[in-house]
Amino acid sequence: MTHLDRILAGRIYFEGDFIEGCVGVSGGEIVFIGKEANAPSYDEKIDLGRLIVVPGLIDIHAHLRGMRLKHKEDFLTGTCAAAAGGFTLVLDMPNTDPPTNNHLRMMEKIEEASDKIVVDVGFYFGKPENRRELERLLNTVAIGVKLYPEDYCGSSQAELAGMLKTVRESGRKIVFHPEDLSVIKENRSKYPAQLKGVEKHGFIRPLEAELSALDLFRRLSEPGSHATHLTSVRSIRKARGYGFTFDVSVNHLALSDEDLSSMGSICKVNPPLRSPEERSMLVESVNRGEVPVIVTDHAPHTVEEKSATLYDEVPSGIPGFETAFPVLIDMVNRGFLNLHRVLEALTKGPASFLGDAKLGGIVEGNVANLTVFDHKEEWHVEPEDFYTRAKYSPFKNRVLKGRVKATLVRGEFVFRDNEILVSRGFGKIYGFKRS
Ligand code: NCD
Ligand code: ZN
Ligand code: ZN
Repeated sequence: MTHLDRILAGRIYFEGDFIEGCVGVSGGEIVFIGKEANAPSYDEKIDLGRLIVVPGLIDIHAHLRGMRLKHKEDFLTGTCAAAAGGFTLVLDMPNTDPPTNNHLRMMEKIEEASDKIVVDVGFYFGKPENRRELERLLNTVAIGVKLYPEDYCGSSQAELAGMLKTVRESGRKIVFHPEDLSVIKENRSKYPAQLKGVEKHGFIRPLEAELSALDLFRRLSEPGSHATHLTSVRSIRKARGYGFTFDVSVNHLALSDEDLSSMGSICKVNPPLRSPEERSMLVESVNRGEVPVIVTDHAPHTVEEKSATLYDEVPSGIPGFETAFPVLIDMVNRGFLNLHRVLEALTKGPASFLGDAKLGGIVEGNVANLTVFDHKEEWHVEPEDFYTRAKYSPFKNRVLKGRVKATLVRGEFVFRDNEILVSRGFGKIYGFKRS
């Protein structure tokens, strides 16, 4: 049997159950799962006691920014935050400045990221500038396209439909942000141009905008596209009926429009937080096993930007990496969420979205991406201590029960006990895999 680099002894999430035992790692792969007595020889043993070892968390929707948005986040701060939150692989969105919508920008982004990332990172490209750029983007490692409302709610639908067909035929992902711009514009026009505050956010971008966007996108493309951050059970039913895959964000599971009312701008996010009733129904949907993927939608802005007075000037987005998993585990501890469903939606679900059989499970032969957490440890959320550059959070001052203790990528500790242990550039660019 192979000699092991290290074994981790603790409570291992294996085949949907927790077993007292060891995971053995060699050359970045999981090569042994079982009792220590049966393990091959090893260099190092890490005794994790009662801590739980789960497959490395995967986030298929995050914003690492960089380029001209470095003041919000860069590839180092963003991936350190991801590691601190238990994430081993994150997929970065293309709504950058400049947008990641042609071959050159994608290559520049990959170059900028390569020597900074500490966990693995995959990339989406934005609506391609033209067909030629699309063809060239399909020769990169990008895993697919991400479309925003302004990309598909307007004219030139035929050209876009053609491009989406090409994306689909190449085996890449089509992910879209479902909110209908015409509904939003109509609602926005009911309020003064100099609208102050964010109280009207939920009226300007109501659930109807989300439902209508699902209808729009269905007309545009064939089934198989992915609707990201759905906020209601009605949206889920509609998306399923149309043959879309989908995910739900931690924000919409943990927060409601009452938090927007009490906290204001830091809770301004798109799509908006919905009513407490809508949120509970979404949580129940997770518990019934209807939500295959949960995302952070980590969307960092600066505190100054978030402090703007005018409605249109407050950027939407909440940083999520460092609170996402603890918030969900806290909800498990309080009896609201089912642990098994949460774990699957952060591991197996995203791995199958990617069509990557080597990720998402503690299985011999899989990549040794692992997340270690304490389901009972309580900690006080202090955004000043975050790795992300966005030092604000709707969960500020909350005491959460559930804490990430370590994150391993390809068998190496990237994060342990609040410290980042690898040098920048340890993370790898995650490339498109034909499934
Ligand atoms: C995201 C951002 O800041 O990039 N904001 C948000 O409110 N979710 C964009 C997005 O995901 O729609
Ligand atoms: Zn979005
Ligand atoms: Zn987003």
